[in-house]
Amino acid sequence: MKAQLKDFMDQIGKDAVAIIPAAHEKTRSYDTEYKFRQDSDFWYLTDFPEPDAVAVISPGKRTKYTMFVRPRDPIMETWYGRREGTEGAEKNFGVQKAHSVEKFAKMLGKLLDGHNKLYYRFGVDKALDAMILEYLSTQRFTRIKTAYPPHTIVDPTIIIHEMRLHKTDEEISKMQIASDIAAEAHVLAMKKVKPGMNEFQVESLLEAYMREKGATGVSYNSIIGGGDNATILHYVENKADLKNGDLLLIDAGAEYEGYASDITRTFPVNGKFSKAQKDIYEVVLDTQKACIEATVAGTTIKQRQDLSIEMLTEGMKKVGLLKGATKTLIKNKKYEKYYMHGVGHYIGMDVHDAGRYFTDQGASDSRPFEPGMVLTVEPGIYVPPDDKTAPEKYRGIGIRIEDDVLVTEDGNRNLTTKVPKEIGEIEQIMNGGRSKAKSARK
Ligand code: GLY
Ligand code: MN
Ligand code: MN
Repeated sequence: MKAQLKDFMDQIGKDAVAIIPAAHEKTRSYDTEYKFRQDSDFWYLTDFPEPDAVAVISPGKRTKYTMFVRPRDPIMETWYGRREGTEGAEKNFGVQKAHSVEKFAKMLGKLLDGHNKLYYRFGVDKALDAMILEYLSTQRFTRIKTAYPPHTIVDPTIIIHEMRLHKTDEEISKMQIASDIAAEAHVLAMKKVKPGMNEFQVESLLEAYMREKGATGVSYNSIIGGGDNATILHYVENKADLKNGDLLLIDAGAEYEGYASDITRTFPVNGKFSKAQKDIYEVVLDTQKACIEATVAGTTIKQRQDLSIEMLTEGMKKVGLLKGATKTLIKNKKYEKYYMHGVGHYIGMDVHDAGRYFTDQGASDSRPFEPGMVLTVEPGIYVPPDDKTAPEKYRGIGIRIEDDVLVTEDGNRNLTTKVPKEIGEIEQIMNGGRSKAKSARK
């Protein structure tokens, strides 16, 4: 049994039962599916990789860990792939008692009765929701009570997501590998990009590299935006030609053994930053470095966000994108025209990872960072191509720089330093030189 599951059991207590479902396969079109990705909460607790399973956890009972799994089936396995079956679930995954998932509905009553609390998240798996509600309501309308199902229903993610937010050493090792693979892929892109290439060719070389190095794939759809396309935050069409004189923004991360990385670099297609590109780049880079320094225990997400807003607003004034008193510009959110997103998010099994950003449910009290959290740091400036108020030389420039940073006991560790971000280093790599400076290790 995974340490995470043991910990979860201790937290829910002996009078509770938890039902945690795996993900299902999803139709991509007609009769074909997307590549399967396990539900992160289920994966985190069980390691079980297959779809359609349901884990039932009851720490107070003799059988504390039950799992319902797809049964072995020679025909289905010939067509669609191997299955662990009940035997494999018990033997290879520490499940105490495994059943075929077909028996779940019938056994549900027995599993629920005799517990005060049910830990279950409604609203994710509609079919399972219906089964659970059906049992609860049937019991309520039965005149002669034979059993008492749980009277309190709690969302288990209140516990699981808090656990996921604080990474173990083993998780951090996997995140470091996901980060290294993605960083190396970005370096490869820097080496290969030149005018006339298409965005999809850059996408292809990044993603081929990730797979070659053992990543399961990307941790989100890669954003490969040349020129104006870099000003579209979630641009994923990736089909335009790259032009001499334009910048290229690449936001691409790898997934390795269930853990994500998330890296953005922006660099000139022809290998040399123009003066105008440098102006904006330096503002973003200085802000990014300062925000990395602020990603330490005790700083709150709001303090870090405010720092990014203040520095970017100052920078926008310096280059001539905004005019006026910094305080007033910030009060009136003038920066939002060019910087409209948060400076970062938790990252882990999900690229936008689980965990609350506030110390209370009312979302009024920003939470301080704690050791073991991993956050991205990703300020940016995006000047719309048709922005008549911006100096012409800046129109259509979109720049974001993004790293993944682990908060440690005595500061932090940047997991994504393998790909440089200093102008000099980038130009050196793009022009056939090796990056020698380690100065970007922030
Ligand atoms: N790649 C998604 C993000 O940066 O949040
Ligand atoms: Mn991100
Ligand atoms: Mn990103």
